[in-house]
Amino acid sequence: MRSQEAAVKVGLIGLGVMGWRIAANLAADGLLSSVYNRTREKALEFSRKYGVEATASPADLAKGVDVVLTVLSDDEAVSQVVSSLLPAVAGKIVVDMSTISPTTSQQLASEVAKAGGVMFDAPIIGTSIAVERRQIVVLVGGPKEKYDVVEGVLKHTASSVVYVGPNGYGLYAKLVNNLLLGAYVAAMAEAFNFGLKAGLGPEFLVELLTKYSSARSPTSELKAPKMASGDFSVQFAMKHMRKDLELVQQEAKRLKAAVPLSALSLQLYRLAEAMGLSEQDFSAVLELFKR
Ligand SMILES: NC(=O)c1ccc[n+]([C@@H]2O[C@H](COP(=O)([O-])OP(=O)(O)OC[C@H]3O[C@@H](n4cnc5c(N)ncnc54)[C@H](OP(=O)(O)O)[C@@H]3O)[C@@H](O)[C@H]2O)c1
Repeated sequence: MRSQEAAVKVGLIGLGVMGWRIAANLAADGLLSSVYNRTREKALEFSRKYGVEATASPADLAKGVDVVLTVLSDDEAVSQVVSSLLPAVAGKIVVDMSTISPTTSQQLASEVAKAGGVMFDAPIIGTSIAVERRQIVVLVGGPKEKYDVVEGVLKHTASSVVYVGPNGYGLYAKLVNNLLLGAYVAAMAEAFNFGLKAGLGPEFLVELLTKYSSARSPTSELKAPKMASGDFSVQFAMKHMRKDLELVQQEAKRLKAAVPLSALSLQLYRLAEAMGLSEQDFSAVLELFKR
């Protein structure tokens, strides 16, 4: 198994906040052969730093590797990149780690299959810091037969790799998580602001929400200090949370599932974005309540 794994050649497309760090982990372990990024400067910088090839196109990258990882912003980005991979995808495994619509991912997986390749959805739970510590959770959907290879690669950057089910099911699991996360942090902001208005100090509110509250959680540990300090430097961007809750709404419509709390949270994040907080951490939704 070890020697088989060592022989797997990986290429990564999308050197953003998450992709860069995932690529760095794989490069450090000697698995990464090449990278591609739409803004070529970033790929050249990565290439200089880690000594892997920066290819001129996604298809060029696919030609030289066994496994293509994609870590991209949204449905449009993944659709464009997967379309450009199609001519070179026969015999290859595409592992998309972006958070996109499960329905879009299923459609793309069937196009990849028609072209002779295999695709997996493998969205991430965890922030950029967790990637650096190799402590992310990856939720995988796709054909079980090829899963071992995918797990072997992802283990180099994740503490848990979870096989959820067929194509799209990694993404459904991710949306379950982010539906709850989005509603929880919006509710935390409401509670934090209520406490401030009542005259409770920010330091005490952090203690309350992280030590004594029956609703404390790893998320309150991350976000309560940010709400107290007003340091909304990004762990997970407001624009990404808004996008994920939009995905929940789209899928919920199709599934005929009632999603009132995430629908309300989505509106709050949109209003916060309209205040210019799009690139800030999504816990900056507190600023909306403070108005
Ligand atoms: N950040 C987090 O904490 C976190 C946590 C869990 C999941 N996620 C998910 O992981 C994904 C990536 O997040 P991120 O924070 O790394 O995003 P990011 O920093 O915004 O990076 C996005 C990447 O996608 C590329 N891209 C965008 N549109 C493209 C297009 N049309 N064609 C080709 N490439 C395109 C960008 O290339 P350019 O450099 O050219 O712009 C960049 O490499 C998102 O789906 C996000 O929801 C993020």
